[in-house]
Amino acid sequence: ADTLGGAAAQSGRYFGAAIAPNFLGETQYADTLNAEFNSIVAENAMKWDATEPNRGQFNFSGGDTLVAHAEANGMEVRGHTLVWHAQQPGWVQGLTGDDLRQAMTDHIAGVAGHYQGRISSWDVVNEAFEEDGSRRQSNLQQQLGDGWIEEAFRAADAADPDARLCYNDYNTDGINAKSDGIYAMVEDFLARGVPIDCVGFQSHLSTDSNLSTYQANLERFAALGVDVEITELDVGGSGSAQADVYRTVTEACVAVDRCNGITTWGITDKYSWRGDDTPLLFDDAYQKKEAYDAVLEVLNSA
Ligand code: G3I
Repeated sequence: ADTLGGAAAQSGRYFGAAIAPNFLGETQYADTLNAEFNSIVAENAMKWDATEPNRGQFNFSGGDTLVAHAEANGMEVRGHTLVWHAQQPGWVQGLTGDDLRQAMTDHIAGVAGHYQGRISSWDVVNEAFEEDGSRRQSNLQQQLGDGWIEEAFRAADAADPDARLCYNDYNTDGINAKSDGIYAMVEDFLARGVPIDCVGFQSHLSTDSNLSTYQANLERFAALGVDVEITELDVGGSGSAQADVYRTVTEACVAVDRCNGITTWGITDKYSWRGDDTPLLFDDAYQKKEAYDAVLEVLNSA
């Protein structure tokens, strides 16, 4: 196949991009999205601050625009993200105890319920671990204790039983203390029947990232019994060094049966959250980069 999405689909995978609804009116942006990708995720539009700016008052305008675009173009939608310590609306930040617990489960019910049946996989909880493998001391952790992640997954399962439910994090690009902590949580959830289906590996990388255990890490999670997804891939750098990192990640995914897709965190370098790092597959002028060719070649070989 001669597109990323088409090539990924040959082995039953998706190839997606993080999208901002306000850019869909830009012809090159929409054309590149529609031609190359078969999955989308909202870069910001489905986060808590965007979807519930006031308690109990939901705003789905940006998310609905993205889901409609996806459905009109035969794309899957990843949901990002139901619960995160960042980008919480102001009203959440001062809540304590059971009031925060209720706000969290109401938020999950409201958002996952609104999109019920239309999301392939949800990032239910995002970035809840520290680099040393312990729990991040967020307001959620401090107010609700260790059980909050499990409570979030149970609430998401109740709201949208057909979506795959993922835990998502960064700096988990190999076997390390942080991925060990997440691994132990997933093992525990599966043993106790807590509904978790997948782990997202954000994969914000650069040309000096050490990927020596990247594939082995995906494999150990898959062997536990969850799907794995590359959820926010971008690689700071350029030329063949950048292409090599993209190649390594794509090879790892296609080597693991339960790696069901790759999402890059944007389409064009022009709008990357990483500023001048030029981390994506299309340059500022939407021209395909060397990294694009590497990814396409690997997907076609799977
Ligand atoms: O929408 C406002 C706009 O009205 C205002 O004029 C402008 C001025 O700063 O800010 C705009 O909001 C910004 C938003 O991006 C949209 O551009 C926020 O300030 C900014 O904080 C926000 O950054 C996002 C960041 O998450 C927030 O933490 C990035 O776009 C987004 O790429 C990034 O994505 C995260 C994932 O969700 C989780 N993993 C890491 C990844 C990268 O940080």
